[in-house]
Amino acid sequence: MIDLRSDTVTLPSPAMRRAMAEAEVGDDVWGEDPTVRALEERSAELLGAEAGLLVASGTMGNLVGLLAHVPRGGEIIGPAEIHTFSSEGAGHAVVVGASARAIPAADDGTIDLGAVRGAVRDPSDVHQPISALITIENTHALSMGQPLAPAYMQSLAELARDVRIPLFIDGARLFNAAVALGVPARDLVPARASATFCLSKSLACPVGSVVVGDTAFIARARRARKMVGGGMRQAGIIAAAGLVALRDGPLGMIDRLADDHANARYLADALASMPGVTGLDPTRVRTNFVLFAIGDQGRWPDDRAGRERAVRTRAAFLARLDARGVRMIEYPEGRIRAIPHYGIERADIDTTIAATRAALAEVGLGPAVTSGRAQPAVAPQVSRRTATGSGPEPRPGARGRP
Ligand SMILES: Cc1ncc(COP(=O)(O)O)c(C=O)c1O
Repeated sequence: MIDLRSDTVTLPSPAMRRAMAEAEVGDDVWGEDPTVRALEERSAELLGAEAGLLVASGTMGNLVGLLAHVPRGGEIIGPAEIHTFSSEGAGHAVVVGASARAIPAADDGTIDLGAVRGAVRDPSDVHQPISALITIENTHALSMGQPLAPAYMQSLAELARDVRIPLFIDGARLFNAAVALGVPARDLVPARASATFCLSKSLACPVGSVVVGDTAFIARARRARKMVGGGMRQAGIIAAAGLVALRDGPLGMIDRLADDHANARYLADALASMPGVTGLDPTRVRTNFVLFAIGDQGRWPDDRAGRERAVRTRAAFLARLDARGVRMIEYPEGRIRAIPHYGIERADIDTTIAATRAALAEVGLGPAVTSGRAQPAVAPQVSRRTATGSGPEPRPGARGRP
């Protein structure tokens, strides 16, 4: 299979597997795992922070970041529909006890600084929650993985300092942003901000994320990690893969992200030229996300019947694609997502392009690829596999998988 559903499906490289097998380990809850410590130091160095903390996942990275910053009854200001607010089981509410003050994101993934300032509550008013954190996602997933530039990150950090609220960056794909912008990743983490990034996505490690920030913040995050059950013991096995990923140059996984971005753009250019593909401006493909729609889904229908029809067509298309050995996945607002990643070569993208053309024809959205008529749209009940195995038909507007 050419599996483009997510960069979370990446498999560890041979160098990672060797490093994991040979890792020197100890009890990390007691601070005795040298490989974990090395990974935390390397992460902090790369992001210009004082300290780092290995956690189990991106979700845990966000959760411990929030727990370390936000008191119960606090409020988090951030873009609407970011992963933290919409795809982590409402951990911000359930575990942290915080409310979300969501600001619509612009097409470039930013939120308006004036709106952020306006969202800060009056601390003297007992009716209102306490504004406790500003958060931002870089890259921003829903805008097709737009990278947020250093200048914007600096302005947001200055605003945060001005209103005396900490800034926390969900940088699940922060290295993609850095590579796309041609800047060191540390330029995206302003002084006094804290951040998390994922090892287990585009960097191709099997498990883990790292949280970085100042020493006092990391001490609080470490306590929070223990509380949520994230104290792992001989976690050097995991950290060893992370150290391989964070190596400089061709031995690591950071520089090669440029290949994924080039493959994403190449795929997007081809998709955008296909009849039946809608809602895709390939010049907006700046990192590894390709989001597109098919048929009339370029505009998400206003009516229920239209949405249901659009979702059925999309499910049929994805099933046809799957049958041709290519996997993509549903995304919000009727879209489809494809993410090139480690292990996907240019030839796989060429195969994907041919399979997409054929699958579109099979659901009646493009000219037949082989001789004869395009086949009619397949039945709505078609089953398809999702990121979690066989699953139900996607709900209209459902949030996409990580
Ligand atoms: C922007 C963003 N933040 C956080 C996460 C959570 O990461 P994990 O799946 O490792 O919990 C994801 C997952 O895809 C993500 O896309």
